[in-house]
Amino acid sequence: MNSLGLFPAFVSLQTLFTLTAYQLNDMAAAFSQEMESGLHGSSQSLAMLPSYLTCPTGREQGIYAALDFGGTNVRAMLIKLHGQGRFTVLAQRAAPLTDRLACYDYTTSRTTVSELFAFVCTLLAEIVPVHGTITLGHTFSFPCRQTALNDARLLHWTKELAVSGIVGHNVNDLLQKALTASGLTRIRPAAIVNDAVTTLLTAAYTDSTADIGSICGTGHNTCYLEPHFPGSSRPMYINIEAGNFSAVPANRFDDLLDAASDRPGSGRLEKMCSGRYLGEIWRLTCLDFAQKGLLGAKQFPQQWQTPYAVTTQDLAALLEASPAALVLPPTLVQQDQLFFRTAASLIVVRSARLVAAAWTAVLRRIDPELSRPHIIAIDGSLYEKLPGYAAAITASLSELLGKKASQISCRLAKDGSGVGAALAACQGEN
Ligand code: BGC
Repeated sequence: MNSLGLFPAFVSLQTLFTLTAYQLNDMAAAFSQEMESGLHGSSQSLAMLPSYLTCPTGREQGIYAALDFGGTNVRAMLIKLHGQGRFTVLAQRAAPLTDRLACYDYTTSRTTVSELFAFVCTLLAEIVPVHGTITLGHTFSFPCRQTALNDARLLHWTKELAVSGIVGHNVNDLLQKALTASGLTRIRPAAIVNDAVTTLLTAAYTDSTADIGSICGTGHNTCYLEPHFPGSSRPMYINIEAGNFSAVPANRFDDLLDAASDRPGSGRLEKMCSGRYLGEIWRLTCLDFAQKGLLGAKQFPQQWQTPYAVTTQDLAALLEASPAALVLPPTLVQQDQLFFRTAASLIVVRSARLVAAAWTAVLRRIDPELSRPHIIAIDGSLYEKLPGYAAAITASLSELLGKKASQISCRLAKDGSGVGAALAACQGEN
């Protein structure tokens, strides 16, 4: 098939994945409304969860243990806060939650809560100082309903995790029990915090204009400093659980992915924009075009037949056209290669534009006229590594906010989960 033969396929790909500024503005308006309803407990999709944390002063000092549980890896750290926004990581140990070579997988429903937390404690045992007690902050990157800094009940799993016995329970109590069972009684867990919040805390430790935090990685989420949280006399960081926003401009491949996921109907924004899902959207799309005979190749390559066989790293390699781009079999005709790359690029740019629309809603809430500078602190592999991602976010913010976009700086805030957990532990102690 010549390039002209593939032309209709490219046009329909563009139509499926291109979002106009009009659509993004609509989404931002709906997102704002959901935020408002969520703050009063009546949102369809945005939980607006209180964190019981406020801005750091920048003067926090002391040594704290930090635990980072995000769904892919677990990390235990010992962190020294020096004040004036400075810190040192004194020790750290990390391990993946799934390791096929070592024959374990702590992510499925076959794993019990005690098995999972016993595993976590083996890492904590390696960083705990020899003498004295130590306060611990726990970055737990899942939606939790909190009634205090140390009382956080898991609402439901996301990112396709399914460990049994945790949903509905206070994660702090579960960790406390596991620490006692492992003999680690000198560690005192004092704070459970979402990763979007720890990212923001870390940025605000050095710069008080940081008032939005976001994760663009395996999962997606955003938090912000809410000046008037109902029932609170001081400003509070609110975990929006943005990935659960449901009024999204989805196409038929998003619907297919959602229907086959662990929790159909939930996490609709996350399923369109986070690293856990981008490869799968690409796979479903390309498979469909191939099956309908719209591509040059007669058959879709075997290695892409399995759900989730294509990862976001594969898309990154495709976009970089790197020699490591194993994802493209060498036998592919050139037009198909171009089609696969175009699909990857459109899916990645759409993700960035959706994220920018959600941030626009947050910005319009906290500063409708954009009369002061704002820092959006961002952690996650998509923002850090995916070719074109950060640039597409900046361009979309300019498109949506006009000249006032110059008030916004997007900053990569790597590894906030450790320092932010220490800062939360410090607030928990005081
Ligand atoms: C979770 C959020 C988390 C985000 C990023 C989502 O799946 O629901 O709580 O912040 O992933 O890790």
